[in-house]
Amino acid sequence: MKDWNSRYLDADTPWDKGAATPVISELMGKLPQFFQSGSKVLIPGCGRGHDAQPFLKAAMQVTGADVSKEAITDATEIYGKSDNMRWITDDIFSMPDEHLRHYDIVWEHTCYCAILPEQRENYVDSIATLLKPNAYFIGTFFIETGVPIEDGPPFFTSRDDVFQNFERKFHLVWEGKPSTSYEGREGREWVMIWRKPITG
Ligand SMILES: C[S@@+](CC[C@H](N)C(=O)[O-])C[C@H]1O[C@@H](n2cnc3c(N)ncnc32)[C@H](O)[C@@H]1O
Repeated sequence: MKDWNSRYLDADTPWDKGAATPVISELMGKLPQFFQSGSKVLIPGCGRGHDAQPFLKAAMQVTGADVSKEAITDATEIYGKSDNMRWITDDIFSMPDEHLRHYDIVWEHTCYCAILPEQRENYVDSIATLLKPNAYFIGTFFIETGVPIEDGPPFFTSRDDVFQNFERKFHLVWEGKPSTSYEGREGREWVMIWRKPITG
């Protein structure tokens, strides 16, 4: 499997649609209670950073994190940085201490299906350490990848796989199929909103 940085260097990034997924705006309109202005938002595996834009426009403080230096260089060039927008080259599994219990929202979109399936439990644990108690993990999961699990990324997942992994550490507060999608992903995504327990 080619490493992520090489994929950006080679412009081998078919997942990149050049704009934020429309699911974010749909959710902000439909479920505004989960998207308070001023929230600190982390986007793990942010790639070129498109998804940060709707959160910034909604007056949130956004951190885009990616293990690929090249992706973060591209994101910074395309969107710039500001007091409310920072880009960091970091591995979601070993984030610096300053990020622990720091975020009100973690926005997941095609990071869960990008990591190896055997890392999923670790991913859930890592996300839980980054959120404040009572904060939300909001994810659009690419559940019908059309690729056998051994041929990922994207590594095949399903609503039940995500449910089993996250229910260990979070409470499910909302789920459903988005009515918007990138072209070609219609009907192949599933949204879940999980709350970290107050004692977590
Ligand atoms: C399929 S891409 C999706 C990028 C972005 N979410 C988008 O939709 O354009 C997966 C991203 O996750 C990043 N990634 C993979 N493993 C990671 C890790 N352990 N920590 C942080 N980022 C990671 C990759 O570098 C890549 O940018």
